[in-house]
Amino acid sequence: MYVLGVPRPFKYVRVKTLEEALEALEEGRPLAGGQSLIPMMRLGIPFDMLVDINELDLDYVKREGGVYRIGALTRHNEIASNLPLLRNVAISIADLQVRNRGTVGGSLANADPSANYYPALLVLDAEVKVLSKRGSRKIKVKDLYEDPYTTTLKEGELLTEVSFREPNSSKLYFKAIKRGGSAYPIAVLAVLKKKDGKLRASIGGVFPRPIILEGNSKEELIKAMESVNEEPMSDHHMNGEGRLKLVRELINTFDQGDYELRLVEERKISWKTGEGMRVIDEAKIKVRVNGLLIEDRVEGRTLLVDFLRKNGFTEVKKGCDEGKCGACTVIINGVSVKSCLFLAVQAVNLDVRTVRGLDVEWLKNSFVNNYASQCGYCTHGFLMASYDYLKNVDPKAANESLKYSIRNICRCTGYVNIIRAIKEASRNEVQSG
Ligand SMILES: Cc1cc2nc3c(=O)[nH]c(=O)nc-3n(C[C@H](O)[C@H](O)[C@H](O)COP(=O)(O)OP(=O)(O)OC[C@H]3O[C@@H](n4cnc5c(N)ncnc54)[C@H](O)[C@@H]3O)c2cc1C
Ligand code: FES
Ligand code: FES
Repeated sequence: MYVLGVPRPFKYVRVKTLEEALEALEEGRPLAGGQSLIPMMRLGIPFDMLVDINELDLDYVKREGGVYRIGALTRHNEIASNLPLLRNVAISIADLQVRNRGTVGGSLANADPSANYYPALLVLDAEVKVLSKRGSRKIKVKDLYEDPYTTTLKEGELLTEVSFREPNSSKLYFKAIKRGGSAYPIAVLAVLKKKDGKLRASIGGVFPRPIILEGNSKEELIKAMESVNEEPMSDHHMNGEGRLKLVRELINTFDQGDYELRLVEERKISWKTGEGMRVIDEAKIKVRVNGLLIEDRVEGRTLLVDFLRKNGFTEVKKGCDEGKCGACTVIINGVSVKSCLFLAVQAVNLDVRTVRGLDVEWLKNSFVNNYASQCGYCTHGFLMASYDYLKNVDPKAANESLKYSIRNICRCTGYVNIIRAIKEASRNEVQSG
């Protein structure tokens, strides 16, 4: 029987080498950051076997002979920090927690029509490398996307790398328009201005597939968009006509909307546990939480939030249960993640922390001083996300980076005080450390 919000049972296999991965993928489906796959499974979509690929050495950004190569497991936050050309593309995905886990390979394989990378990689004429037991092949990103949530990847194929030639122009304009919170964008525009003045643009979120537009001027780009022979998408966020209007406006103003975000330093986010694993039905696991080894029996599908709450860490809350509100946020290996999008088995050998296991007096005090908690339900999640933000992204709590990082939901809408508290905490932290 399917229970809403609980993935159907599956076999969980964690592989350590590419060879093991390709063998297992003959039977199962890759699990990368889980930021799209786990929500999908929680909605009831069944898979018999998940192949956790997070141990593979596919997280890198390299520049060799004028070509950028990005490993499929590179996290959105690593791209934002380590590849200035794609910083705006990566930093405007969801929130800090999703960007700590979500990968570029997973995003491309997921093929959401509103996803950030497709328009940017289309204007850069990128390609992906794909491996399977039958060999390897390269696919242009324009030939990878087939339909919403469908790609031209075949059963058993693993996307291992994205690459593109360094563009003539150093400026890639990118803008994603959202309805608030950590929702997907309703319209995305990427534009590359070539040295000869020609414009190559791509729009996402408007038609069922990302579209490439070319022209010598903004007017020509708009004309090209208006001659696309496809129905624009309509949903409860915005109808098709509204989306077209929005993109017209985006094209008209694209070179005014660029934003600059400060990041602390080059980032490496490691999710390696050092161990392979196979869970068929149930397994006894030990997870280190706040320095204590917690032992319990779990299924592959047991979510970390449920494991934590069952074992007494009830400060970790369940809110939306679909990865949006951030109430379930915890710190793992020093960065924030949503524990409702993380399997308990994935936490073995990692360091899980809740507010009880972190030195956060400076942060808690500023929440109290600024009345940044009303009912308190969201407070733990906000503390966890703020901790990561102030430690790893911007200790100075600049407005722009805050807006793109902390998108947790407070149902009593105490945002003004919460923002005030984070800013004050940044001053306390600087003084105390
Ligand atoms: C609240 C929320 C808001 C979001 N907002 C945005 C947004 O604004 N913009 C945006 O672009 N994205 C957004 N996302 C999605 C996010 O970017 C995901 O990280 C991404 O779509 C999937 O990457 P993943 O690594 O988590 O993949 P997973 O969820 O692990 O996998 C996704 C799919 O890709 C397959 N897959 C994964 N890796 C590979 C691989 N290497 N080879 C072959 N197949 C593979 C999986 O089998 C699965 O079918 C959001 C997600 C959430 C939860
Ligand atoms: S994001 Fe996990 S419960 Fe809302
Ligand atoms: S304080 Fe009540 S939900 Fe945020």
